[in-house]
Amino acid sequence: MSEGRASFGFRDVDAREKAGLVRGVFDRVAGRYDLMNDLMSAGVHRVWKDMTAARLNPQPGEVIVDCAGGTGDIARRLARLARGARARRGGAHARILVVDFNAEMIAAGRARDGGSYSKAAWPEIFWSVGDAQRLPLRDRSADAYVIGFGIRNVTEIPRALAEARRVLKPGGRFLCLEFSRPASGVLRAAYDAYSFKVIPRVGELVLRDRDSYQYLVESIRRFPDQPAFARMLDEAGFGRTGWTNFSGGVVALHHGWAL
Ligand SMILES: C[S@@+](CC[C@H](N)C(=O)[O-])C[C@H]1O[C@@H](n2cnc3c(N)ncnc32)[C@H](O)[C@@H]1O
Repeated sequence: MSEGRASFGFRDVDAREKAGLVRGVFDRVAGRYDLMNDLMSAGVHRVWKDMTAARLNPQPGEVIVDCAGGTGDIARRLARLARGARARRGGAHARILVVDFNAEMIAAGRARDGGSYSKAAWPEIFWSVGDAQRLPLRDRSADAYVIGFGIRNVTEIPRALAEARRVLKPGGRFLCLEFSRPASGVLRAAYDAYSFKVIPRVGELVLRDRDSYQYLVESIRRFPDQPAFARMLDEAGFGRTGWTNFSGGVVALHHGWAL
């Protein structure tokens, strides 16, 4: 990508335009985002998120960043696990900070389940409108950082990774759940056909918005594959990096440590 340019799906745009374009996509889909995830993945996104939360293994008293946390799907899982650990071992509530630059997504998350994301119901979860590239957190203040299906939307991925590295305490854990490259050619062909033919059509039928879902599938294709993204983590200064494929590599969970 040349200087000053960024990818927006298959298009190259002025880097200064990308955030506004991405924000527009999530403004349009926010109200039905959770439903669309279930429809597009036949509910499997729930399993990927369950596995991510279990891998992060939140503990009482920890500060955890759910970056690009959207409607709080991952944060809610983390809060449940932290609550379970606290019931067994005692200690302070974990603090899970959902940071997302789209206020509509956060509002949809807070309104979910009849608005039960109130402070009383979820004392662990804090919501903040903010950018992955400029996190509203002090240096070395978080025990763990997770970003789920968010990093490919960020204009300057190395900047977001540097921010994650900055806010993590030494020994802090980093997790990134993202669509990736299926390992087998047969699965890749089937997944390509499904993504490009079915997903934009479902977007059109459910939301009357084909373009947003066309962007989502194109952005998945442009995202680096597993080894290339692991190299970006190394370059950002994370240690012991690697990944675990889910569903044959349709999705990968990258991990690393702030050492
Ligand atoms: C596909 S959604 C994922 C939401 C949630 N993590 C999940 O797994 O359901 C991507 C989210 O990334 C957010 N996002 C995109 N770029 C961002 C940025 N630079 N900083 C913060 N959030 C961003 C969008 O607003 C959107 O809510």
